Amino acid sequence: MANTNKMIETLKEYNEFIRPYNDAINFVRIRLEALNTDYGHLYKHNPVHQIIQRVKSLDSIFNKLTRKSYTTTLENAKEYLTDIAGIRVITYYQQDVYELVRALHSCLDVVEERDYIQNPKPSGYRSYHMIVVIPIHYLKGVEYYPVEIQIRTLTMDCWANIEHQLRYKTLQEDFSGNISRKFQQYSEELNNLSLKMEAIYSVQNKNFSENSA
Ligand code: GTP
Ligand code: MG
Repeated sequence: MANTNKMIETLKEYNEFIRPYNDAINFVRIRLEALNTDYGHLYKHNPVHQIIQRVKSLDSIFNKLTRKSYTTTLENAKEYLTDIAGIRVITYYQQDVYELVRALHSCLDVVEERDYIQNPKPSGYRSYHMIVVIPIHYLKGVEYYPVEIQIRTLTMDCWANIEHQLRYKTLQEDFSGNISRKFQQYSEELNNLSLKMEAIYSVQNKNFSENSA
């Protein structure tokens, strides 16, 4: 009984802790949807294929704190973790990623960014990461919450999902050698293929713009 009560208490605490992070994600999502619609009006192309959002589970918050050698408390999570709120934007083309990055800079407070498209990770991972800080206004005042935005194309996302799934299904020592090298190579190949398809889009898009001008 005592254990059940403790669990209910922890769950309540987690739900209350996560509420502003959910509100911050929803704020970013609304911005992204407005930008996507606006691009559609201006350029007859919607850059966003899909938006996926998540807040970190209590389990993975505590795992990450342990990995970073912090005590597992929600206070430490608030202080040290910037990816409790996460939103992933999947675009069609690489140029869509950079259009969105540029637009987000003009409407959100970007405090950190990493371009793993120009500089892929050694694994072959490609994506554009930003941390933005969102003011959340409640009855007792305003507080600021970080949201991690990952922006990548459909092909980058395809690679990341399969690599992630296999990395967790394969023994660490097996993944690190031959399989890891194959994934670096597949990332290159997918990237080349994706840029070829993007080149077709760019030509078609140019023709469309010239004909409708
Ligand atoms: P953290 O301390 O975990 O935040 O690592 P970091 O700061 O070095 O990396 P970053 O925050 O830039 O990226 C972390 C996130 O990017 C992960 O949670 C994954 O979603 C994604 N990611 C980074 N590297 C890889 C990779 O090699 N493969 C896949 N599939 N995803 C990756
Ligand atoms: Mg990080």
